[in-house]
Amino acid sequence: MKVHNFSAGPSILPKEVLQESAKSTLQLKNIGMSILEISHRSIDFLNIINEAKTLTKELLDIPNTHEVLFLQGGASLQFYMSALNFCGKHKCSGFLDTGIWAKKAINEAKKVSKTIKIGSSSDKNYSYIPKNISFNEDFDYIHLTSNNTIYGTQIHSFDFINKHIKTEKLICDMSSDIFSRRIDIKNFDLIYAGAQKNLGPAGTTLIIIKKDSLTNKEDRPTYLDYRTHINKESLFNTPPVFSIYVSLLTLRWINKNGGIINIEKKNIEKSNALYNEIDRNSLFFGLVEKDDRSIMNATFDLYDQNLKRKFEELCNKERISGINGHRTTGGFRASMYNALEKESVNKLIEVMQTLENKNKK
Ligand SMILES: Cc1ncc(COP(=O)(O)O)c(C=O)c1O
Repeated sequence: MKVHNFSAGPSILPKEVLQESAKSTLQLKNIGMSILEISHRSIDFLNIINEAKTLTKELLDIPNTHEVLFLQGGASLQFYMSALNFCGKHKCSGFLDTGIWAKKAINEAKKVSKTIKIGSSSDKNYSYIPKNISFNEDFDYIHLTSNNTIYGTQIHSFDFINKHIKTEKLICDMSSDIFSRRIDIKNFDLIYAGAQKNLGPAGTTLIIIKKDSLTNKEDRPTYLDYRTHINKESLFNTPPVFSIYVSLLTLRWINKNGGIINIEKKNIEKSNALYNEIDRNSLFFGLVEKDDRSIMNATFDLYDQNLKRKFEELCNKERISGINGHRTTGGFRASMYNALEKESVNKLIEVMQTLENKNKK
């Protein structure tokens, strides 16, 4: 049964990745054991995690200055851990407030240092990316959320940050757009992303960290210190073996499908098609300023709320799943992660057109 899965996360994974991971839960290759029952110190798992790191580095063109880690605790743990490790002599960090995830990061960082919002789009329900920012403060680091999963905004160019802000370090939560587009990794000191959108099942968190950026020498709880995990190559304690294995399968899939350049091209095609329909269709409108629209999560709504039930019924009939907006924003949200095929976007567009044809004034 074909379901068009637009869920915001955990979300759609490539079918062949699911098939291979299903097989591996019974038997990994020909080793006679399931991926779920092998030691994380075994050669089979070491090969898996090493290949996952190598592929991540190759696909994202990560320079040797940076290390790749697979940790646990989700992006939510990174809100605190990043602040703890990157808080430096200024005891002050700057945040771009682009909504709920950014606010959660701010609240955790407050426990470690002074935090300043260098910009906020709260005045318009986070429907844009604030870019005209200028501050004289000296910051230890600036924290950004590249893609705001809930509101459907995305930072398309990071240039505006370095121009008017005094900071040496840049941290970015890329949970919902990592591997979806090309990124110049060398500009970032820390990137973190929960796996459960473009990478694999929930359980592991991808960390890309610039090794010499950890200048804060303070003693920290062992587990919350990036140096622990760098030194132990992500094997300080038992890692989430299955989540890392499925992530490897997804990385192989990205590689096989032309790498990030090709994935990005497809993501732009898919999102352009849907946004064109949102703008064309007389029943719908987009919730976000056009320049800041996300290629991953498109948010939109109906002018006439009386049509909501009808639209949902049509979606259900066509097995379109997961397009309800976040509980705090309402409306609709179509998440178009890497594994979502264009065919699914076309189906959603078709349903929007059917609704329009049935309800022409
Ligand atoms: C941008 C962003 N940051 C952080 C999170 C929280 O991630 P986790 O559940 O892995 O802690 C999410 C979850 O959807 C997210 O979209």
